[in-house]
Amino acid sequence: MLEQKFLLHESLDTAQNSALRVRPRRLRRTENLRALARETELRVSDLVYPLFVVHGQNVRAEISSMPDVFHLSLDELEREIARVSELGLRAVILFGLPAFKDEWGSEDYAENGIVQQAIRACKRVNPELVVMTDVCMCQYTSHGHCGIVRAGKIDNDATLEYLARTAVSHAAAGADIVAPSAMMDAQVGALRSALDANDFTDVAILAYAAKFASAFYGPFREAADSPPKFGDRRQYQMDPANAREALREVELDVAQGADMVMIKPALPYLDVIRQTRDAVRLPVAAYNVSGEYAMLKAAARNGWLDERKATLELLTGIKRAGADLILTYHAQDTARWLRE
Ligand code: PBG
Repeated sequence: MLEQKFLLHESLDTAQNSALRVRPRRLRRTENLRALARETELRVSDLVYPLFVVHGQNVRAEISSMPDVFHLSLDELEREIARVSELGLRAVILFGLPAFKDEWGSEDYAENGIVQQAIRACKRVNPELVVMTDVCMCQYTSHGHCGIVRAGKIDNDATLEYLARTAVSHAAAGADIVAPSAMMDAQVGALRSALDANDFTDVAILAYAAKFASAFYGPFREAADSPPKFGDRRQYQMDPANAREALREVELDVAQGADMVMIKPALPYLDVIRQTRDAVRLPVAAYNVSGEYAMLKAAARNGWLDERKATLELLTGIKRAGADLILTYHAQDTARWLRE
């Protein structure tokens, strides 16, 4: 035996021998060694859980393209918030389905709109929970666009006032963070001014800074009943081909007073997340959107992917790319898995 090993050793030429002094596999040998060497750790406190709130009572209706995600009425929302809090999740983001839609999206900024009521319900159950809201018009407008439509066009500057009113109404209901997602120019500045003028100086802004015109929002639009009735969103959401422009959007939002910036979707834009992380000092969020979730769910349901392993790998990848927080429909499962 010994002799054989010695022979093997002798047979290696010097170059190969010295290359083998370096063996990255040494630190992969056991789980404890791997843990010591691990660079990125996904934590429950990185996650933000999106919720869809509807009018009515006892509504807990599964969204067909998003298995395990539900439309919830306020009573069911309260139960869900208790579960979410018990799992150790610290933040949610709310989306509402209004009772009616009109050209100006009136329920968006109504004192008793569905989201305003939902914010109060969350805070009743868990006053410590960070409650974020999406500030946009598409779920509330009859035409399904993210802004005010004039002469068949989305009027940027007219939309700012509506977004600002909506953000102020969310702040008044108790939101901690408002997240403008309409991709109107100067929306962050408009929200900051309106919030400050109404004494909501402590309400933070998470800017959907680089939101791409993505096919991966498909299931969300079913869930939120928000597809545009004419045209598409490419005149305001970004071209998926553009990373430099994304950084410019990020810089503009930072200059307008954003407290955090978001890249959305996450998976096709990991390079943009990395470049943003390297360019700014604010927390960077990534939105692991509905289509990304649906893809994984579909594959898992077919037995083609291990849902738990694939999800944890994917979320770790988003974090490794530079995201400090991740909005994901997998937040509850992930919280459970990280605890096990
Ligand atoms: C509202 C909004 C959208 C999403 C979040 N906020 C849809 C859209 O822009 O069409 C998508 C979220 C998801 O797909 O999970 N504008």
